Amino acid sequence: MIKRVAQRLAQMEESATLRMAQLARDVAAQGHPVISLSLGEPDFDTPQHIKDAAIRALQTGFTKYTPVAGLPQLRQAVCHKFQRDNGLAYTPSQIVVSNGAKQAIANLSMALLEEGDEAIILSPYWVSYKEILNLSGASVKFVSAGIEQDFKVSAEQLKAAISDKTRLLIYSSPCNPTGSLLTKEELASWVEVLQEFPNLIIVSDEIYEYINFSGQAHASIAQFDQIKEQVVIVNGFSKGFAMTGWRLGYMAAPQWIADACIKIQGQFTSGANAFGQMAAAYALEAEQEATLAMREAFERRRNLLIELLRQIPGFQVNKPQGAFYLFPDVSALFGKSYGNYQIQTDEDLVLYLLETAHVALVGGSAFGNANCLRLSYALGEEDLKEACRRIAEACEKLK
Ligand SMILES: Cc1ncc(COP(=O)(O)O)c(C=O)c1O
Repeated sequence: MIKRVAQRLAQMEESATLRMAQLARDVAAQGHPVISLSLGEPDFDTPQHIKDAAIRALQTGFTKYTPVAGLPQLRQAVCHKFQRDNGLAYTPSQIVVSNGAKQAIANLSMALLEEGDEAIILSPYWVSYKEILNLSGASVKFVSAGIEQDFKVSAEQLKAAISDKTRLLIYSSPCNPTGSLLTKEELASWVEVLQEFPNLIIVSDEIYEYINFSGQAHASIAQFDQIKEQVVIVNGFSKGFAMTGWRLGYMAAPQWIADACIKIQGQFTSGANAFGQMAAAYALEAEQEATLAMREAFERRRNLLIELLRQIPGFQVNKPQGAFYLFPDVSALFGKSYGNYQIQTDEDLVLYLLETAHVALVGGSAFGNANCLRLSYALGEEDLKEACRRIAEACEKLK
């Protein structure tokens, strides 16, 4: 038998975050207590009232297939959320509920892109964008911003990068991996450029919407009427409601795009799980206290982590306004060594910190910036302090 997988897999990379999780488990199995700053999910449990809603839904018969695009109750609740939180009007027919925001992005990639198209990812970027868009056959291009720009691409950079061939632009705000959050003013400057390209679809991934420390309301590019018909918002329940394992996300899209994604999802997976959808509708409509409490905890941790990391020579740390990640530039440590460890790259540093300090983090190259490391602060303050103590100790040894 020839064990041949399809060509499209040949260029797909293994997820760096999952690889790191495995390496960390290997080190832990040797008896070293590893602190992981590599996780992409809240450490909080799903709030009880949301679990209770799922149990009620199970008991009242929400155990069957749902419509492909989601239960009417959830699509309606999502519309209500957009009106309430973002001042955006969508009809339920424009909402497509999926198995996580990840599937929403995959649906868009399959529905909109083909060979000959160009797609732009703003960098640093969430690892899966690249692999999902690559599968479509489109050519993928990156537009990058470093720490000196708070990792935010400027309107001028967009103007230089976009052409009539560009079919899709994708980014997240608040951003994974940088935590950067785009303000209304920054988005307004982008809109000036983007409105010149009416065939360009803008995918705005807003899954970290509720983890916002800026004191300003969340800004979405769909709030600019002149380009709303070009915008697809992707969002979900994983981060703001600590529901990663429930696999529930959604998009709000122009009708023709929603219809195309429903067609694809109908053949791939059908509707998301029924009782989870009822709980998700409840999560959106209920009091948001638990979400606010998580946001506050994340803000405290962000402040603590910034303070501690800024004391470590070689770490350049900006102050991002959202999500639960920091993305320090550590390039000042490249070229240093300790014992057999030569630190030439982000990956060398990650391995050094894992093996000697027993702290797991992810190299920035997986996210498009090899000068940086990604640290998640989805863990308690004591662990964060201990992790920073260990990182500082290990970095001091580098000469
Ligand atoms: C920016 C971004 N978008 C989408 C997702 C996927 O979320 P979901 O769990 O809803 O598939 C993640 C998860 O890490 C993410 O960081």
